[in-house]
Amino acid sequence: MRTDLPQAIYRKDYTAPSFLVDTVDIGFDLDPITTRVATRLTMTRNPDSVNQNIVLNGEALELVQLRMNGKLLTKRGYTLQGGILQIPDAPDQVVLEIETLTHPEKNTSLMGLYVSNGNFFTQCEAEGFRKITFFPDRPDVMAKYTVMLRADKKKYPVLLSNGNLVEQGDLGDGRHYAKWEDPFKKPSYLFALVAAKLVCQEETYQLKSGRKVLLQVWVEKGNLDKTQHAMESLKHSIRWDEERFGLELDLDRFMIVAVGDFNMGAMENKGLNIFNTKFVLANPRIATDVDYANIESVVGHEYFHNWTGNRVTCRDWFQLSLKEGLTVFRDQEFSADMVGTASGRAVKRIEDVRLLRQVQFAEDAGPMAHPVRPDSYVEINNFYTVTIYEKGAEVVRMVQTLVGRDGFRKGMDLYFARHDGQAVECDDFRAAMADANRRNLKQFERWYSQAGTPQVKAETSYDPLAKTFEITLSQTCAATPGQAKKLPFHIPVAVGLLDAEGKDLVLHCDDGASAGVAGTLVLELTKAKQTFRFTQVNEQPVPSLLRDFSAPVVLEYDYSDAELALLLAHDSDPFNRWEASQRLAMRRLVKLTDAARNNEQLTLDPMFIDALRGVLMDDTLDPAFRELVLTLPSEAMVAEQFSVVDSQAIHAARQFMRGMVAQGLRTELLNAYETNLTPDAYSPDAEASGKRGLKNLALSYLLEWADESTCQLALAQFDTAHNMTDRQAALSALLNAESKAATKAASKSLKRFYKDFKNEPLVIDKWFMLQGMAHATDVAAMRALMTHPAFTLKNPNRARSLIFSFCNANPARFHAADGSGYAFWAEQVIALNAINPQVAARLVRSLDRWRKYAPKAQELMLLALQKVANSKKLSKDVQEVVSKSLAA
Ligand code: TRP
Ligand code: ZN
Repeated sequence: MRTDLPQAIYRKDYTAPSFLVDTVDIGFDLDPITTRVATRLTMTRNPDSVNQNIVLNGEALELVQLRMNGKLLTKRGYTLQGGILQIPDAPDQVVLEIETLTHPEKNTSLMGLYVSNGNFFTQCEAEGFRKITFFPDRPDVMAKYTVMLRADKKKYPVLLSNGNLVEQGDLGDGRHYAKWEDPFKKPSYLFALVAAKLVCQEETYQLKSGRKVLLQVWVEKGNLDKTQHAMESLKHSIRWDEERFGLELDLDRFMIVAVGDFNMGAMENKGLNIFNTKFVLANPRIATDVDYANIESVVGHEYFHNWTGNRVTCRDWFQLSLKEGLTVFRDQEFSADMVGTASGRAVKRIEDVRLLRQVQFAEDAGPMAHPVRPDSYVEINNFYTVTIYEKGAEVVRMVQTLVGRDGFRKGMDLYFARHDGQAVECDDFRAAMADANRRNLKQFERWYSQAGTPQVKAETSYDPLAKTFEITLSQTCAATPGQAKKLPFHIPVAVGLLDAEGKDLVLHCDDGASAGVAGTLVLELTKAKQTFRFTQVNEQPVPSLLRDFSAPVVLEYDYSDAELALLLAHDSDPFNRWEASQRLAMRRLVKLTDAARNNEQLTLDPMFIDALRGVLMDDTLDPAFRELVLTLPSEAMVAEQFSVVDSQAIHAARQFMRGMVAQGLRTELLNAYETNLTPDAYSPDAEASGKRGLKNLALSYLLEWADESTCQLALAQFDTAHNMTDRQAALSALLNAESKAATKAASKSLKRFYKDFKNEPLVIDKWFMLQGMAHATDVAAMRALMTHPAFTLKNPNRARSLIFSFCNANPARFHAADGSGYAFWAEQVIALNAINPQVAARLVRSLDRWRKYAPKAQELMLLALQKVANSKKLSKDVQEVVSKSLAA
């Protein structure tokens, strides 16, 4: 068995580039079979460098010719080895002219220049530019680009690149050209071009300064009725960054282009953001409320990168979270501000934390755990992770919690004043925040350097005579690969104290606490163990700990059910109200899982149902918030509570609980269904989407007792829905209900759904996804689905919609006792590896926590992992994840 790792790259080995690039002139003769790329680089020796040679990266390129200062370089004039071209003995100033060939149509990796549905696109982050031309392809080399595009005019009427269009015209032979100039220096990963048959929705938009900018959303002709929401989101993003951070769009033109074949969500290329169609196209017929919200947040995310990422970029890829963590934080705040209300903000916060806990905490506890600023990697593509993005955003959020909102703004201002136009490190961001606020954030660096989720244990004691209440917090963090010992983190713990009625007490505490919102203090835990004493506490309080999830930690505190019920009913912090409901549910799910595993009788106490009823019936609460409380922790979350996971028992336990809730609250659920209908014209706003969310959750519960009447309810909703949210929810509820009637209705609806939407690829993705996730879908059914004419592994969205949803979101089937899920997984990884290594490596992650299962299951998983490890022509991407998964 091969477990050897390909060459790793270490952060400590960073050296400055030997040559800097001042200008890049790059010309393309675009052709799907063979595209000729002619590049002219003006370069200057970097006085800070120790390396003498010119060092260029190049991958999957044919080098036609190479000239230095006008002279042709023969093979004796340079070396080319392992994707690195080196030129020794160069003068201090050079002009390099490079001619290369690439084959876009054959490029299924979707990195570099590739073809999607007959059109040309590029994707350069992280290291794709080297598949276009030889170049020092590293983010600390920033240059000014001029781009000349030449292509067939009929097939590719639209020619786009970064910056401003400076010239265009006919070439006479049926071909035309366009010349683009980007006025800003940028790293190569932000380069982009599009040559395509597309149309756009465009608009002139006035900035607060009065300057007018041209905004465009480019899509295929049939999709022009699906661009409005992306355009609205873009305008909101521009306005928000002006208002919250004083950051203005620095270009006269800003373009968004949608492409159907794309490895990730979207890409922030300067002035030319390229998006997965999934995060652009929406109308009520094809997109759900969740899609609408995702589009707003991804459009915001990419737009915000213009300052956090592009104007100030990363010195090297170890600093990836410098731009990603900060930009996710900004997009989260943007989405929250767009909703506006306090409870709307809380809903957004809860959704973000749910993702963090379910996916990032799992990553931090597995073999791929890495710090927010990693120390090494084999393939950088494998480090676009929830740790870099979501935990990175939490780390930025903690800074804001520690220095306050205004202090955070001051820190941002200083960051841009110091580093505009530079490629910098995570430490530079932290230093700007510390200096602007005169705060010592030295210990805070450990959030960047240490992997793993800290566990914070709270203990309290009340002294009725002295009227003091003490909270003792202690922290530990488990070992992660390569990091056995951890030092204490600097953890902001926001707390409140509730009286017996659930009202916030006025807080008095002298032990290093800073003021949060009224009734909340932020305790700064910096030691392994620390006690905070509150005075003038007139009664035994109930502590509300880690309000608004003030730090990405697991907080342990021995709450009684009664205390949790009080928090759920009254806490002024809506996040902790929700949190109380999850604690109530989780402790029961853990017990039920144990009972299911031991074949014991499953029971649920009425107190839990009563607590849920209280929330469901509370009309003063937003429907969106009630939906979150009524949604039970996912099977994946339950799995995280166990050292040995039994997926079947977890499924049985959760299904049992769903059934009991459905039975206990049947009348109330029916009532919630009826009172939250949204008969008016579709709008994705928070209020309407919240109602749909609660109504559709109610429907899914009602179908736990799938008799004639509830099946009819779902079928009627499916048939008459005037939007995709309701249609998909009805189909999903039918697919996941277990009665004969529901199964029949589901299969009929699936057929109808396919027929109605067969020309909408994003909806067909939903069709595959719902089936991949459905409990009824076993491996045999998966294999059948893969033979459907609409299925292909080549399109990442399609592969994800079926394969990933099965492997990641259908645990009871994926972990079938016979190992059939694992064998299936290995086949798909191997097939994807040959097509698209990035996507393949993501799928490998579905088995990275194999050590958490029972011995028999481990054996079967190990076989599957070894099958992949031993297969031929493994990409670096897949090798890295497989070998790290197998490593002890
Ligand atoms: N930087 C992009 C973002 O966060 C994501 C990204 C990185 C990406 N590498 C990519 C997108 C490769 C597509 C393909 O917005
Ligand atoms: Zn990003």
